[in-house]
Amino acid sequence: MQYGIPIVDGIYWVGNNDRRTALFESIWPIPRGVSYNSYLILDEKVVLIDAVKDLSLRGYLLRLKRLLGPDRQIDYLVVNHMEPDHSGAVPILKQMFPAMKIVGNKKTAQYLTKLHAIEDDIHLVADGEELDLGKRKLRFFMTPMVHWPETMMTYVIPSGILFSGDAFGGFGCLEGGIFDDEVDVQYFEDEILRYFSNIVGKYSPMVQNAIEKLGKTEVKIIGPTHGPIWRSNPAHIIDLYDRWSRHDAESGVVLAFGSMYGNTEVMADAVARGLSDAGLKTVRTHNVSTSHISYIIRDIWRYKGLVLGSPTYDAGVFPPMDALLRLLSTKRIAKRHVGVFGSHGWAGGAVKTLTKFVTDSGLDLVEPTIDANFRGSPEQIEQCHALGHAMVRRIRGAYQ
Ligand SMILES: Cc1cc2nc3c(=O)[nH]c(=O)nc-3n(C[C@H](O)[C@H](O)[C@H](O)COP(=O)(O)O)c2cc1C
Ligand SMILES: [Fe+2]
Ligand SMILES: [Fe+2]
Repeated sequence: MQYGIPIVDGIYWVGNNDRRTALFESIWPIPRGVSYNSYLILDEKVVLIDAVKDLSLRGYLLRLKRLLGPDRQIDYLVVNHMEPDHSGAVPILKQMFPAMKIVGNKKTAQYLTKLHAIEDDIHLVADGEELDLGKRKLRFFMTPMVHWPETMMTYVIPSGILFSGDAFGGFGCLEGGIFDDEVDVQYFEDEILRYFSNIVGKYSPMVQNAIEKLGKTEVKIIGPTHGPIWRSNPAHIIDLYDRWSRHDAESGVVLAFGSMYGNTEVMADAVARGLSDAGLKTVRTHNVSTSHISYIIRDIWRYKGLVLGSPTYDAGVFPPMDALLRLLSTKRIAKRHVGVFGSHGWAGGAVKTLTKFVTDSGLDLVEPTIDANFRGSPEQIEQCHALGHAMVRRIRGAYQ
């Protein structure tokens, strides 16, 4: 047991927790770490599904050795995803188990060569192809661009386990509990959404393709490469992924603003009061200078309403707001109601840029838009309050 946690008879979680990396992919804060999930199947053939990052390898290799015993080797390593948080350990595994074949698709093979100089013993598989292990079979689903070109998923027959790669996974170490029914699932859902919206969300159409491809496959357990294993209700996480990748959102408003000296912040406070006066409790306010952008993106992905406020800076928007707008455009955020406001000193530009962002993105602009000269006039502050009201009416009317 201590050398691997059984999922079902003969199939073990053998992953690692990473409590050292502060920024995943050198950009996303992971205050509670991240797990790299790797799985071992002991059948007539021995299969390892995905590996780990090339960090804390000692425990991982020891665990594998203990589970295998002195005589057994790994026959296959299935690489569902080549990102180095999973494939980093592949070269050392290849050295330890020289007869091991690496299972992947044509893109996997290319990246194995480019990233790890591995060219031999690659077992290529195509969509729907199966691999016989003895008692079990593996079936491979190609799910390109969820979120790299080579991403694929591996389904175990008859156990009904889907090893899904990064899909359905998220940040946070597995602190003892590894299953959805053993952990604080709300915490992980928040982190899975942060992972999805920031890393996978741009590829939402490909996520929809993948969900459609899984179709009628009976998925009893989902083992992603990060975060908990979904065994009590795998349909729930598929349903969340389905909704997120269709840009369907919940009732609530994100108020994201920047402010150097407080003029725009006073306006933001008036908008917030308007939202509250209209009866909305779910308001997430982010100062774009202090909230990490990944949390802002996550909340925007969750809620229907968005209000953006910015001072004018160099004739455009405040730089951290500019970064947010760029990311939202890249991710092709859709189906959102958006209000805008801001402050300027002389020629202005921020509110114009914000408004252009909303209309260029095909989002629904909620009026009034307010552009204050330095400190907003009492009438303009009143209009900010009215914007809060209008936003609540809009999110309650349009999609409820
Ligand atoms: C570094 C800097 C650059 C600015 N650039 C412009 C500008 O290009 N055009 C403009 O109309 N106002 C500009 N302003 C004025 C601000 O937009 C104005 O003071 C605004 O009220 C600031 O709002 P805040 O208190 O919320 O930061 C600039 C201010 C600063 C500090
Ligand atoms: Fe990845
Ligand atoms: Fe990953």
